[in-house]
Amino acid sequence: LAAKSTYRVGFAQTESNNPWRLAQTKSMQDEAKRLGYQLVYTDAAGSTAKQVADVRSMIAQKVDVIFLSPREDKPLAPVVKEARNAGIPVILLDRNIDPALAKAGTDYVTFIGSDFIKEGQRVADWLIKNNKGKMNIIELEGTTGSSPANDRKKGFDDAIKKAGGFKILASQSGDFARDKGRQVAETLLQAHPDANVIYAHNDEMAIGAVSALEAAGKKPGVDVLVLSIDGGKEAVKMVVDGKMNYVVECNPRFGPEAFKTLQGYAKGTKYPAKIINQDRDYTPQTAAAGLSSAY
Ligand code: FRU
Repeated sequence: LAAKSTYRVGFAQTESNNPWRLAQTKSMQDEAKRLGYQLVYTDAAGSTAKQVADVRSMIAQKVDVIFLSPREDKPLAPVVKEARNAGIPVILLDRNIDPALAKAGTDYVTFIGSDFIKEGQRVADWLIKNNKGKMNIIELEGTTGSSPANDRKKGFDDAIKKAGGFKILASQSGDFARDKGRQVAETLLQAHPDANVIYAHNDEMAIGAVSALEAAGKKPGVDVLVLSIDGGKEAVKMVVDGKMNYVVECNPRFGPEAFKTLQGYAKGTKYPAKIINQDRDYTPQTAAAGLSSAY
C-alpha cells in the first residue's frame, strides 16, 4: 500500500441490528469523514454468505484497504486471502479469523479488538467474588461460529470450572440478538427453574433475558443475577437500576485506531498480530459514573 493523501477504504460490517454495531459503524464513518477518505460501506445483515460477497465486491472495486469484522471465524478466511492475492491489505476489526486458517502479517495486517477470552474471564471472576452460595447458571451464547461467542464461552466456562461449586445448567445461542435472547431465556428458565444466574455474551441478549425474567415473575438482578458484555447505555442503565449486576465493556469505537493503523501500515510500520483494546467494566458501584460516556 502506497502512502497517499487520501484512500478509498472498504468496511465490511457484520450486521446492524444492535447499538454496538451502529456505534462501530458511526465511529468508522466519522473518522473517514474527518480524514477526507472515501468509505465503501457494506452491511452483511447477519449473513455470512453476503459478507463473503461484500468483500469480493470490494476486491473487484479495487479499494485501497479492507476493514473487516468477520461474522464467523472460518468462512471469511478464503476472501481474506483473495484480497491479499489482489494486493489489497485487510485489517481485521473486532472479530477474528481462526488462526489456523489465516495468519497476521501474511494474510492480513493485524487484528484490532478486545480480548474476548479475558472478557468471559472477567465476568466469571466477578461472579466468583460476589457469589451468594449455590450458583446455577444459564449461558446465552452469541452467534455460533463467531470468535466472540467461542472465546467468551471459553474464558467464562474455564474460570467457572476451575473455581468449582458452580453449575452451568444450560448454554445455548441467542445469536447476539435481543428477541432471540429473550426467547431462549424464556425456554431455559422454564426448563431450569432453579437458575439464579444468567450470563449473556452481549447486552442485547441480556436485555432480552431481563424481559424474560420479568415475564416469568422473577426479579432480574435480585432473584436471578444478570451478567453481560458490551456496555451500551441501555445495559449500563440497568446496572444503575439494579436489573443487571455486572457488565464488561467491549469498546465499539474503532475509527481512530483503525485509520491510524492504516496510515502507519502505508508508511511501513510493522504491527503485532493483535492490537488489544483496554476495556473498563460496570459494577453497581461504578455504573452511574460511567453511564454518560457509555456508547
Ligand atoms: C462481538 C460483538 C458483540 C456485539 C455483537 C453484535 O463482535 O461485538 O459484543 O454485541 O458483536 O453484532
